[in-house]
Amino acid sequence: MILPSILASAHAAVKAACPPGSIAVDGTIGNGHDTLFLAECVGPTGHVYGFDIQQAAIERTHARLQQAGRRERVTLFHTSHHLLAEQLPEDTRGHVRAFMFNLGYLPHGDEQVITQPHTTLHALEAATSWMATGGILSVALYTGHPGGEEEARAVIDWARSLPAHAYQVMWQQTINRNQAPSLLLIEKKHVKKRGDGLS
Ligand SMILES: C[S@@+](CC[C@H](N)C(=O)[O-])C[C@H]1O[C@@H](n2cnc3c(N)ncnc32)[C@H](O)[C@@H]1O
Repeated sequence: MILPSILASAHAAVKAACPPGSIAVDGTIGNGHDTLFLAECVGPTGHVYGFDIQQAAIERTHARLQQAGRRERVTLFHTSHHLLAEQLPEDTRGHVRAFMFNLGYLPHGDEQVITQPHTTLHALEAATSWMATGGILSVALYTGHPGGEEEARAVIDWARSLPAHAYQVMWQQTINRNQAPSLLLIEKKHVKKRGDGLS
């Protein structure tokens, strides 16, 4: 396949935004795959903060990180991502180079526990004010489970409303397959001030 999967696109954008030493946040750690990916990106001098509401996700992510020798690079919060502003250290505000959200349910877990539009939108709104300029917010959207379609629509509507002078928003979706997952990528732009020469 020449065209990138949504996972490949998310990882490429996050890696580009997140050099060693960066701060990154996984809003939905689940089985810990993205958390480990972020821990590799930020390297030994960076740090990752991860959120999940399920104990099983915390345990699986802890085990994955431990096995990879990356546990010390990550702080795990067993709480909802909509509370991120209360959990992240204050000095990380405006310095988070990458946020990853992978919505839906925990694979190989309880499929009734899903991300919800209200808390997801609250978390995404908070994430935009914790992002660094030049930072990336990636959101993987799934529509194959009950409630997924509504949540995806709400998130895309929210992203469309972000001001174009401050954010670049892209949406990747396979359009010839039913209920294909899609990816939203949001980059926080350098806002041009009079005379600063940035574009
Ligand atoms: C699709 S999974 C994430 C998969 C993960 N990215 C991975 O690499 O394995 C979605 C996760 O979101 C979690 N979740 C649901 N509501 C949440 C909330 N309000 N705050 C944080 N996590 C939540 C679920 O418990 C589930 O583990």
